[in-house]
Formats: sequence, C-alpha cells, structure tokens
Amino acid sequence: MRKPMMAGNWKMHKTIAEAVAFAEAIKNRINGLVSIDRVVCPAYVALPAMKQALTGTDIALGAQDVHTQAQGAYTSCISAPMLQGLVDYVIVGHSETRQYLGVTDADVNQKAKIALAHGLKPIIAMGESLEQNEAGQTEAVCDRQIRAALDGITSAQMANVVIAYEPIWAIGTGKNATPEQAQAIIGGVVRKALADLYGEEIAQATRILYGGSMKPANCHELMVQPDIDGGLVGGASLDVESFTEMIEIAIQAKGL
Ligand code: 13P
Repeated sequence: MRKPMMAGNWKMHKTIAEAVAFAEAIKNRINGLVSIDRVVCPAYVALPAMKQALTGTDIALGAQDVHTQAQGAYTSCISAPMLQGLVDYVIVGHSETRQYLGVTDADVNQKAKIALAHGLKPIIAMGESLEQNEAGQTEAVCDRQIRAALDGITSAQMANVVIAYEPIWAIGTGKNATPEQAQAIIGGVVRKALADLYGEEIAQATRILYGGSMKPANCHELMVQPDIDGGLVGGASLDVESFTEMIEIAIQAKGL
C-alpha cells in the first residue's frame, strides 16, 4: 500500500524568521502522524534554520528545485551535493520553473537523476497548460512529460520517486481539477505510463500527488480518489491551521 504524502511548496513565501515560526507552531500538531509523510519545502535560505527547528520530529524537509549539474559556473544555482544532509526531498519540474526559468523536459530528467544519485528523493511535477487542456492535449502532454522525466531512471530508483500532477490552470487560481479529472489523469495516464515503463507492481507502488488549489474544502474529495496519494500544496500550505487540517483530512480519507 502506498503511504500518503502531504507536501507544502512555499514557493517565494516566508522569511527565515517566518519559516521558523511556522516550524515551531506546527511541530507539535503534525509530529508523529506516521501514517502519512509530511513535507515542507521552504525557500533555500530557510532550510538550515528549519532543519534545526524540526530536529527530533519526523517532519521532512524538501527543496523547491535543484540544478542539473553537481557543481560549476552557474551563478545563483543550488546543486544536489549542497542539499545533501539538509533535505530528504526536492521538487523538480514545477511548472513555474518550466515557465519562468526555462526548465525543459530534458532538464527535469537530469534534475531527477542527479537528485537520486545524491540520495535525494525527487518530487517530479508535471501537468498541462490551459491551452493544452482546452485543445484536448492533456493526455498526450502528460504522457510525454512523465516518460521524458523518467528516462533512464531504474526500477530500483523508482522506490524513491514521487510524482505530482499539477494542471497549470489549477495552480494558484482557486480552480482545482475536479476529483474525477484528477483521478482520470493520475490513474489513467500517469500510472498507466508507469505500468508500461516499469510493470504493474512498480506502478502500483509509486506515489502520485495532486497539486493545484488543494485546500481543506476540497482535500477530502480529492484524497478519496483511489490513485491520488496526496497533495503538493501551495497557498493552503502557508497557514499552520489549513496545512494541519489537510493532513488530518488525508489520513481520514485514506481510512488510516
Ligand atoms: P496552489 O496550491 O497555490 O494552487 O499551488 C499548487 C502548487 O503549485 C504546488 O506546487
């Protein structure tokens, strides 16, 4: 059985002090809820202080991106070796990095591979744009993105891979995919591609999250879908109460 996950992607929100205050406020609320993995992904600069604040808890940290190379002349970038020992997870391929930083399918694949090579677990984000959705290209785009992202990643490595389906039109818009839409793509396209690439057993063992305006009000209906294993949450993860609530709702929705 797949262990659910609730991951907060803070994007460019919260100063170091605000991040530490969040960690202090949340740690007694969500520590020890071992039936679900709880992950917070603050800005790079807040990672060391948050790691310290969360010491002794089972709340995991993630980074929001990683460079494709281990080191080099890449001003402003952060590499996998720099994140080793600091985070367990790293988001790669988030649509905002694809859109604003020019990250390509090939880059996402390189980022996932270098993360895995350094003991970091990639959360591979993917999903179609509004134009692609309206043009009826959702299935084809998602199938292409997932296959490209996983190129050369081995069956053994898949145990450390998490996938997040985030339709771009649902991110930060307040307009979530319906549970049926999300289930159809996650189960019918993404998990199907995993079965084709790695076989049914690995496809059934791989966690696939939904992201895009997930919040306490819609968390239950999304989480009861059989193929949705959790959430990658932006806005609603910034607030201690709503993040805690979504974790509790997810545990209940999965009957844990
Ligand atoms: P929102 O939850 O704010 O829509 O953001 C989703 C997201 O992009 C998480 O990575």
